[in-house]
Amino acid sequence: MKQVTAVCPGSFDPVTVGHLDIIERASKLFERVVVVVMVNPQKRYSFSVEERVNMLRVATQHIPGVEIDSYDGLLSAYAAKVGAGAIVKGLRAVSDFEYEFQMAMTNKKLNPVPETVFLTTSEKNLYLSSSVVKEVARHGGDITDFVPECIKNQIEERLKRKDVQI
Ligand code: PNS
Repeated sequence: MKQVTAVCPGSFDPVTVGHLDIIERASKLFERVVVVVMVNPQKRYSFSVEERVNMLRVATQHIPGVEIDSYDGLLSAYAAKVGAGAIVKGLRAVSDFEYEFQMAMTNKKLNPVPETVFLTTSEKNLYLSSSVVKEVARHGGDITDFVPECIKNQIEERLKRKDVQI
């Protein structure tokens, strides 16, 4: 059976134009793209799950077939839960590959149904990551080219707040 549902997992802490590019391209390949904010209790995030989900909702509202969700567990289990036939990940540089390869193999072992599909990043986003966005914003730098315009202010204001920042 041809696959209609793909999951696009990540931390999205916060969502960047690089993530958005991958989600937009995934939506051209699959009828339904479920973007899922994965919750790892061992990891410290700068934005809460609710903040990350809300930012993704705003930033992806123009893309047809996209749903936003969060999940506290294994990606392989989540893919089964939503009936996904594919897991879409973005690959930037070679340095991403080893980690992503390990994750893809583990996910395949845990749930053989979804195929991991890697989309190569667009050239302009090669260097971009959520960490870079946070680093630049915290020091008052301009993040206009790094994050979706509609949530830029929210990210800047939030990262300026010393009381909640990690
Ligand atoms: O945006 P990130 O931080 O690179 O995303 C990593 C993420 C959330 C996709 C990855 O850590 C993940 O899938 N976590 C869920 C736990 C899991 O299923 N791990 C794979 C088996 S070890």
